[in-house]
Amino acid sequence: MNPTFPDDFIWGVATAAYQIEGAVREDGRGLSIWDTYSHTAGNTLNGDTGDIACDHYHRMPQDVALMRELGVQAYRFSTAWPRIIPAGKGQVNSAGLAFYDRLVDTLLENNIEPYLTLYHWDLPQALQDQGGWASRDIAGHFATYADVVSRHLGDRVKKWMTLNEPFVFTFIAHFVGRHAPGLRHFPTAIRTAHHALLAHGKALEVLRANCPDAEIGLAVNLSRSIPATDREDDLQAAELMNAYHNLWFLDPIYKGAYPQNFLDTLDESIHPALEPDDMQLISQPIDFLGINYYFPHFVRAKTRDENGFTFREETLEELQKRPYEITEMKWPIVPDSFYQTLCDINERYHPQAIYITENGGAFPDQLIADKVDDPRRIAYLNDHIGAMQDALNAGVPLKAYFHWSFLDNFEWAYGYERRFGLVYTDYASQQRIPKSSFYWYQQLIDANRIPEKGH
Ligand code: FCB
Repeated sequence: MNPTFPDDFIWGVATAAYQIEGAVREDGRGLSIWDTYSHTAGNTLNGDTGDIACDHYHRMPQDVALMRELGVQAYRFSTAWPRIIPAGKGQVNSAGLAFYDRLVDTLLENNIEPYLTLYHWDLPQALQDQGGWASRDIAGHFATYADVVSRHLGDRVKKWMTLNEPFVFTFIAHFVGRHAPGLRHFPTAIRTAHHALLAHGKALEVLRANCPDAEIGLAVNLSRSIPATDREDDLQAAELMNAYHNLWFLDPIYKGAYPQNFLDTLDESIHPALEPDDMQLISQPIDFLGINYYFPHFVRAKTRDENGFTFREETLEELQKRPYEITEMKWPIVPDSFYQTLCDINERYHPQAIYITENGGAFPDQLIADKVDDPRRIAYLNDHIGAMQDALNAGVPLKAYFHWSFLDNFEWAYGYERRFGLVYTDYASQQRIPKSSFYWYQQLIDANRIPEKGH
């Protein structure tokens, strides 16, 4: 029989507000940058938007009942800033707060612990109009929002994350342009990254003051950076990719400085504009590190481009020559790189605790005769949770695992085409159909060990 996990290990599922709630014009919610972005032609697959999504705003009690059936001990969700403070600053919308009150109360009644993320990418559009993350003022507005939410829910919510995946909502959203607000300007992206770190630091202070008995952290996405060959230039390229993608946010938080090797590749005119106490604010201790892990990067050297980049990810064509299965997102499945990432991070930063705040895969799930059989997701889970158990045995302080996602939802620029859920969402009827992976995960949670193959 497979070995069990520690008795106090937490099993959960994760979602995010804009991806599931829908009800974008209800009860006083303000516009977010994702409303604007998804309603702009050409930005999302099939022009999909989060207007209705999983209609979770209206179906929350049934969804929580299904979580209870799954047996999870914890649920990671995000609060929508534009529901709570519609213009981003100023007037608080009590109807918006009331929704999260009901959610938190329903979770607690069902013995499911709420893990709350304050920012999962749905910035109020009104703040974007004033510069968004590119403006330093954003940090103060975010701290005020954190204050409102934590004063209201802090009596019941004891696990808080400030930001979800700062790399994505700064660099991918302001440099690559694949996320809202869809800019393509590298110097702006560098600025937004610094302001995201400041916002994290300021919110952390507020949360500490309002909820002294809570655990506070953030969730970052990490991709192990693997050199494509053992040529010297590819090795160096992989080091730089690692600094850019993985360490740019974590080094300031844990070491109080940006990674020097990547900083050295940047023209001085675009270096982050540090004010005297910035790094002190940013590097205040956190109680846990949330890691979202999906896939590794295979990295190659390239000729220096206009932004100073001398590295690149492999193309899909190059990737397909490798012996790995590839998901619908075109992400390679490499569970060993999950294990290696956890060991590396533990060695570099010695975090007090690590929560896996997201992990999962998109597969071409199909509803056939009222059932969804997803053996590839079960294999993905089996191998990644196995890798996590190896890391635990190697001394990595892992305390919790949240599967991404509870149910199929609005997968950002990929709309409703990419399905990550343990529960299938039939968008036409809004019916929820648990997939076979739901029952597999239920069995895992019940026995606190990975189910034997074939069961
Ligand atoms: C992560 C996001 C999450 C979801 C998964 C697939 O980057 O945090 O919202 O889109 O990827």
